[in-house]
Amino acid sequence: MGCYSIGTNQVDLMTAKQLGIPVFNAPFSNTRSVAELVIAEIIMLMREVPAKNAAAHKGGWLKAARNSYEVRGKILGIIGYGHIGSQVSILAESLGMKVHYYDVEKMLSLGMATVCNSMEELLRISDVVTLHVPETELTANMISTKQLSEMNPGSILINASRGSVVDYFALAEALKSGHLAGAAADVFPKEPASNDEEFISVLQEFDNVILTPHIGGSTSEAQENIGSEVTEKLIRYSDNGSTVGTVNFPQISLQPNQNKQRFLHIHKNMPGLLNDINSVFTEKSINIASQFLQTDTDIGYVIVDTESDLSKIIIKELKKIPHTIKARILY
Ligand code: NAI
Repeated sequence: MGCYSIGTNQVDLMTAKQLGIPVFNAPFSNTRSVAELVIAEIIMLMREVPAKNAAAHKGGWLKAARNSYEVRGKILGIIGYGHIGSQVSILAESLGMKVHYYDVEKMLSLGMATVCNSMEELLRISDVVTLHVPETELTANMISTKQLSEMNPGSILINASRGSVVDYFALAEALKSGHLAGAAADVFPKEPASNDEEFISVLQEFDNVILTPHIGGSTSEAQENIGSEVTEKLIRYSDNGSTVGTVNFPQISLQPNQNKQRFLHIHKNMPGLLNDINSVFTEKSINIASQFLQTDTDIGYVIVDTESDLSKIIIKELKKIPHTIKARILY
């Protein structure tokens, strides 16, 4: 099954697994798109463009160099150094920013990026903080009054992760007091379900805040990448049996085996199942050319390549094995 998206919460992954259905998604098809938007927002906010733009639309002319800065040499703090965070890191460094990051996992620092041992340390040293963490119990309101007060006076906050990650009421207070110079938000705790619904946010009153309607990953390129990434994974599974990139299944990477028959067997993970599968072949004196097995706590996935012209008989026997979920001949 293909989820043409990053998330897979529209599918009951456990039920799909128990039915022998691997589910594929596109976890980093829009990574670059989000990273580019974040970089653009950093530059705009460091030059106070949102406020100057808002004034110009109303006939104002805020020509000034005060509080406008180049990004070169400034410290960017990235919270969550996964797909998007690390991509932002590379782009920011190419503009001359000094990147520091904080992640709960040990990550490979790209380029000259420096790891921070705590989020507090990152908040204290950064000129701009950008969030790229998933929505979890631990990340809910991870930036609130206390964390905002730990940020540098005059610094900037960007949230293109999830609306639950930042306490926007606390952010509004930090902006009102002038402690923060600006912010950008692409995601919100409550987002309109369609373009016809009204959008309401406590941040709407601030000219120094960029508000975007969850479009970090919404580009033509990302749409195209999602389409091809998920489709390629489905084709590899259907043609070769390869399950690399699945979110709910044991992962096996397979190449086509020329001039062989390939059998696929998905079963409940029970002791002795591999023995039962092999017996089907040995009883017919069929030589197994190669075999792959991968299990998780619930299911086992076996691929068997043979040289035999008894495929139809074999597949019938494989299906009869107790605890079989699915068996098929691939070619
Ligand atoms: P990822 O899974 O590759 O990276 C997330 C990183 O955050 C991981 O390295 C993880 O260890 C780290 N992390 C988790 N909990 C943490 C914590 N409490 N403190 C510090 N680090 C923590 O995810 P990816 O692809 O980089 O996406 C990040 C976020 O961006 C997700 O929330 C995703 O939903 C959001 N996103 C937003 C889009 C938009 O349109 N604005 C589009 C795509 C993703």
